[in-house]
Amino acid sequence: MAAPHPATNESVLNDVQRQAVEAGVSLDALPQHVAIIMDGNGRWATSRGLPRLLGHREGYRSLRTVIKDAYDLGLKYLTVYALTAETWRRPDDEDEGLMKLIEKATRDELRVMHQNNVKVRAAGRIHEVPESLRQALEDGIETTKDNTGLVFTLAVYYGGRAEIVDAVRALVQEGATPEAITEDALRAHLYNSDIPDPDLMIRTAGEMRWSNFLIWQSAYAELAVTEATWPEFRLEHMIEAIKQFQSRKRKFGGL
Ligand code: FPP
Repeated sequence: MAAPHPATNESVLNDVQRQAVEAGVSLDALPQHVAIIMDGNGRWATSRGLPRLLGHREGYRSLRTVIKDAYDLGLKYLTVYALTAETWRRPDDEDEGLMKLIEKATRDELRVMHQNNVKVRAAGRIHEVPESLRQALEDGIETTKDNTGLVFTLAVYYGGRAEIVDAVRALVQEGATPEAITEDALRAHLYNSDIPDPDLMIRTAGEMRWSNFLIWQSAYAELAVTEATWPEFRLEHMIEAIKQFQSRKRKFGGL
């Protein structure tokens, strides 16, 4: 009989892996790259009579937990949608508060992420992000650049269409001929061309939309929508989404 795969050897499982296995997850078939649209912070807050910013603060707590669960589980890539390119559509005070929260979170979590071998990345029009937030992101990316564990990407000032436009512009600037603009060439000019496409996209708070997130990369991603708002999202919801992913037959356009 073949030796058990190390990841399924009961004695070496950590608590998160054990919980996942007990719930029916196969650790040998985890999605490689999970992307999350963290929605519902505002609804979580207003339904409790709280200001929307408190919802974002509570969302930050969820994110801390989810990052830790992701590396304990053994995921390789986690990408979250923190700020759209259309963030200016929010009221000024919310937009500013959200930006400050993301900057503070990026700085405060850096030490723990670095200790846990997490590699921080960013996706979006980073050059348009306010200076202090951009600096926090660049510090995080630089400090963790040689880490080999979970690759955690924060999408800020991100829009999927803008990313495609930016990739085409880069190709044109390089002098690419029309024939040279292929899918592979375009893919190579996306913000993080070294990160594989997400195979599982999770959206919280019940909406069935892509909202301009990783629209090129998620052409073949499985979508799992949970009713839980982002502040309520925990390991059990992640496990449920992974179980849905594992129960589907992925065809990539074939039969
Ligand atoms: C959607 O809630 C979520 C966001 C706008 C951004 C996500 C931000 C966080 C989770 C805060 C912490 C992030 C980091 C990186 C520390 P919404 O306000 O659109 O919710 P609604 O649809 O209920 O109004």
